[in-house]
Order: sequence, then C-alpha cells, then structure tokens
Amino acid sequence: MSDDAVTGIDTFSQESRTFSPPSEFVQNAVARPHLYAEAERDRLAFWRTRAQLLSWKTPFTETLDWSNPPFAKWFADGTLNAAYNCVDRHVESGHGSQVALLAEYEDGSDATYTYADVKDEISRMANVLTDLGVRTGDRVAIYLPMIPEAVFAMLACARLGAPHSVVFGGFSADALRSRIEDAEARVVITADGQFRRGKALPLKNAVDDALAKGAESIEKVLVVRRTGGDVQWTEGRDVWWHEARETASAEHEPVWVEAEHPLFILYTSGTTGKPKGIVHTTGGYLTQATYTHRNVFDLKPKTDVYWCTADVGWVTGHTYVVYGPMANRATQVIYEGTPDTPHQGRWWEIVEKHKVSLFYSSPTAIRAAMKWGEEIPAKFDLTSLRLLGSVGEAINPEAWMWYHRVIGGERAPIVDTWWQTETGAIMISPLPGVTSTKPGSAQLALPGISADVYSESGEPVGPGEGGYLVLDEPWPAMLRGIWGDPERFQDTYWSRFPGSYFAGDGAKKDEDGDIWLLGRVDDVMNVSGHRLSTMEIESALVSHEWVAESAVVGAADETTGQAVVAFAILREGNEAEVEAAGGEDAVAELLRQHVGTEIGPIAKPKRVLIVTELPKTRSGKIMRRLLRDVAENRQIGDTQTLADASVMDLIQQGMSEKK
Ligand code: PRX
Repeated sequence: MSDDAVTGIDTFSQESRTFSPPSEFVQNAVARPHLYAEAERDRLAFWRTRAQLLSWKTPFTETLDWSNPPFAKWFADGTLNAAYNCVDRHVESGHGSQVALLAEYEDGSDATYTYADVKDEISRMANVLTDLGVRTGDRVAIYLPMIPEAVFAMLACARLGAPHSVVFGGFSADALRSRIEDAEARVVITADGQFRRGKALPLKNAVDDALAKGAESIEKVLVVRRTGGDVQWTEGRDVWWHEARETASAEHEPVWVEAEHPLFILYTSGTTGKPKGIVHTTGGYLTQATYTHRNVFDLKPKTDVYWCTADVGWVTGHTYVVYGPMANRATQVIYEGTPDTPHQGRWWEIVEKHKVSLFYSSPTAIRAAMKWGEEIPAKFDLTSLRLLGSVGEAINPEAWMWYHRVIGGERAPIVDTWWQTETGAIMISPLPGVTSTKPGSAQLALPGISADVYSESGEPVGPGEGGYLVLDEPWPAMLRGIWGDPERFQDTYWSRFPGSYFAGDGAKKDEDGDIWLLGRVDDVMNVSGHRLSTMEIESALVSHEWVAESAVVGAADETTGQAVVAFAILREGNEAEVEAAGGEDAVAELLRQHVGTEIGPIAKPKRVLIVTELPKTRSGKIMRRLLRDVAENRQIGDTQTLADASVMDLIQQGMSEKK
C-alpha cells in the first residue's frame, strides 16, 4: 500500500446533474429492473439462468463452490467450449451469413468475415496449431497487431482448450520473453510486422530477440504475413500462417473442457516489478462476458453494429472484442490503426462508414478528440450511434459531457463501466434504460454483483464517505489466481479485508449510494487507461548502467489521466560519459528511450528528472507522495517523516533550474 490516504487522492468535481435515459431505452426498461429484482431474490439462481444462455456439452449441476475461498469454482461439473459458443453455435442456428467482423485496416482497406468464415478460419488455425504440437492445456503466446488473425488466434486456442497469453504488440522483446517464460508457452503466434501511423514496423524481430535470449519453451513460431517486410527465418521453427492455411482442413471438432479449464492468462502490472499472469477460466468467464455485453450495451444482434476500440492485448479486447460480443453474435468493427491516422477524424469516419450504433472507448481517447476540436467529428454523420461506453479510468464530467453532446448527439446514453483485468468483465455500471446516469460516476454494481466501499478498518462507509472499493461476494468471471503464484494471489487481493476482494481502487459513495471511483491507492499508475507499475519502470531505469536509484510516480495529466514522471540518481564515476552523451538533458532522453526498449513505448516516462537525492522516510521508504507534489507543481506536502527534509529543497531547486 502506498503512503497515500484515500482521501488524499484528487477527484473530479462531482456534478450533481443527472440524465434520464432517452425514451427509446425506457421501453427496454420494462424488462430490465427485473434483473435487479431477480438477482436480489437469489443471486446464485440468477447466475445459473445467465449460464444457461450458453451452450453446454454437459450441463452443470452445481452453480458455485466457495468452500475453499478465495478459490472459487463456478459451474464446475459442466463442460463446454468457448469458441463453439462464440462461433459454431451461431452457424448451426442458421446465422452463418451474418457478418462477424468488419475489419478496417489503417490504410483504409477493409475485409469482412461472416460467422461461417470465422468458423472456417479458426478451425484451420486449430488444425495448424495441432500440427505444430499444441495440445489441450498447452499455453500459446499471441503477439499480433489488431487484425482479424488476432481474433482467430485466440479462438483457435480456445477451440483446443489451449490457454492463450496475448502480449500487446507494443510491448518489447524483453516483456514478451518474460511473459513466455512465466507461462512456459509452447508456440507463439506473431506477424511479420504491423502498420503504425502509416509506417510498416517489424514485429517478428521482437520474437526472434526474445527467443535468442531465452523463452526456451517455444518450439514453433506461427507467422501471419501483414506488412510483407523482410523477416529472418529459422527453418524448422518458423511457419507461415498463409502457407500452412492452404492445406489445413476447415473441419475441426472443438475440445469440450470443464468449466474451470483455464481459457487464458493475461499479464497485468502489479505493485512489484514482476507482472502478474491473471488466470481466467472458461464457464464463469464466458457467462459474465456474455451477460454483461448484452445488457450493458443493450445489444440487438440483428440490427446493431458494435465497435470497441480496445486492442486485444488488453482485457477489454478479450472480453468486449472477442468473447462477449461473439458469444452474443454481434456484428462488430475491428480497427488496426490509431485514431489519428491518416487524419484526426478516422474513428468518426469509420462510425459513419459502418453505421456503428454501439461504441465503447476510453476517457483518454475522448479527451484527445476533445483537444483536436469538435469540428472534426462534426464532419461525419454520427446519427447511427445509440449508446456510448467508457472504460479504463474515471471519466471526468467535462469529457463525459463532450462525449454525450458531440459524439452522442445528446441522444445516446453513456455507460461508464468499472472493472479490471482481474474481474474479467464489467462489475459496476449503469444499465441503459434503467439507471439515470451521472457524469463521472460508474454508479451501481450490476445485478448479480456485490460491491461496497470499506473504511480503513473494513466497515462499509456511509453515504458521502470515501474508502476502499471491495467486492464482497464471488462472481463468475473472477480471476482464479495468478499463474504459478497462489500466495501472491491471496496476499494481493484477499488479505487487506479478509473475505472480500480488494480492488486496489479508492472510491466514494454519494448520498444516493452511487459509487465514484477515485483512482488507485497502490503503486499502480493508470496512463491512458493502461496499467503500469511504478516498480516495473523503476527496475527498467536501474537496469541502465548509469542509474544508481530511481523513483517513479504517476502525475495528473490532462489527456492521459496520469503520466509517468521518473526521478533518477546517476551513479558516480560516469561523469565523463554523461558529458560526452550531451549532459543531463540528453541522458534523461536516453533513459526515456531505455524504458521504451525494456518495457515498451507505452511505459516511456513523459519526463525524467536527474536528481542527487530522493525523499525517504527514516526506514528508507521512498515518499512518492512528495515526488508527485513536485511533478504536479504543487506545494510540497508534509515532510515531517523524511529522514532529511532538505532533500526536497534540492529536488525543487533542480526542477526550477530545468524549467
Ligand atoms: O483503477 C481502475 C481503472 O482501471 C483499473 C483496472 O485496469 P485494467 O486491469 O488494466 O483494466 C482496464 C479495463 C477494464 C481499475 O483498478 N478503471 C477501469 N475502469 C474504470 C476505472 N476507474 C474508474 N472508472 C472506470 N470506469
């Protein structure tokens, strides 16, 4: 836990204004309040009914086994297959010709895949993976850009019951290697390269690097051709997908697995330097992914066009690009590129082109669009949009209002959805047509979910009070553990408030009992809705030979929510090298790049400040709170607990010299 009290966290001003749902949704509302009532009457019966909406090979008889908390088992004696539920069953029920994926590439070209096409593609890929030696239970790493093959790869693994571990394509070779090693993946699926802002960038080279340095469990590399760029080839290990695909059969019998069979591992940052491999299993995860996607987004599979802008490298891309929408037979857009390539209206152009009706994105993206100006979206016809979603961090009321007015045409309700990699699916969110929305608040736990705000001593707080967000009942999509580390699982989430899951977020209940998220209370930063660990970036910095010590903080940032600001002390004895490199400013830039190479460009600090001391308590703990004050140009807070109070003067002096 950091030295920040929950109450010390800045929060957005809470606007008292509420919006009533538009009339279109009020009609649906007739059915929806039943959900709350139904869940309240009997929570487990509620989940049992939701699970029965999936297709089971063997029906389950027991809903929840919570006899050994925090290790939950949901629907444990049932068997099913996630890919079958996301694809085959739609083809079998006569919807094979419905479009599943509207793939937009960065260069403006596109491709369409129906559910029948997807079934063929994932069956072929499952057959190829089998030929490459993948068996049920083996882990497969996926390191791909946001192209249809990324979705196929995940579903092909699910077909085989081979847990996938998707590593975001923006992560470095080292990050990929450590994730492969932790999960002992057998095969990695990658692409020759990826398009980013009009440029073809290599990708497979990072896999080659990762494998040159370790990752010894990898036997085969399956390579999708995307950019056509040159790649190094290791005969016997590397296999082109387009070649293997030619002879692969489009027939494949899914492997029926038990509900608790792991579906995927997804690494996320924690408070230590080592990322955590969050484990999700099949039946419970898919139940909640499907239920939340259908109800939070009010999905009408026949008429809606849905678009979630997340990359499959993150949990949002898992649950709300692949598993939730596809289990619900949605027609959806997936987009390879960045929002401003080749122009800043790219996203809105796609909304117009495909008549997107449900749009799910992040506050960071909305704030960036706000900065670019409302005349840009005004050039496009956005009247198809009927519902907007937000995830990743709290949406400040200003951004909420802009989203509502400029993108939603004051028609579309906004669902602000709170959840985490660990929760697997949405937990707290308004329901369209039921809840009057409040800009800036995620509001209520969904039917079937139980959330509360606890005080320091573990008591529920009263209206108007702040504390820690907890989930006090198990839920179907809950993480089942941290890969290979049950102790860390218990310590991280279940030891702070015994019996409840501690999310790591501060929260406040307002007078109506609605929940407002106040940000992380641990050493995890949230940059553009992506989780980064202060410790991980500190380790990357000290891995540079010139750095003796470092401290990293997340400082408030207008666009990205938080920005990484790093403080580094250089080792003595390198003065000549530092001078030759161009002095301290040049070294700061070099260290930024170094973090980019070690972890990935998203982790690059916005600023690196070279300092001679760091503020520490008498027991040697770095006081990040004070560094955050410096980074945010605030009055320095209480320095009484510092071992040497003059340190802050030195740091501030250094800062003002650099301004
Ligand atoms: O701090 C919360 C913030 O994002 C964290 C989870 O990050 P991650 O596991 O990467 O998943 C992001 C996408 C689900 C949470 O602990 N967070 C996420 N959604 C919201 C949010 N904070 C406030 N409001 C939200 N709607």
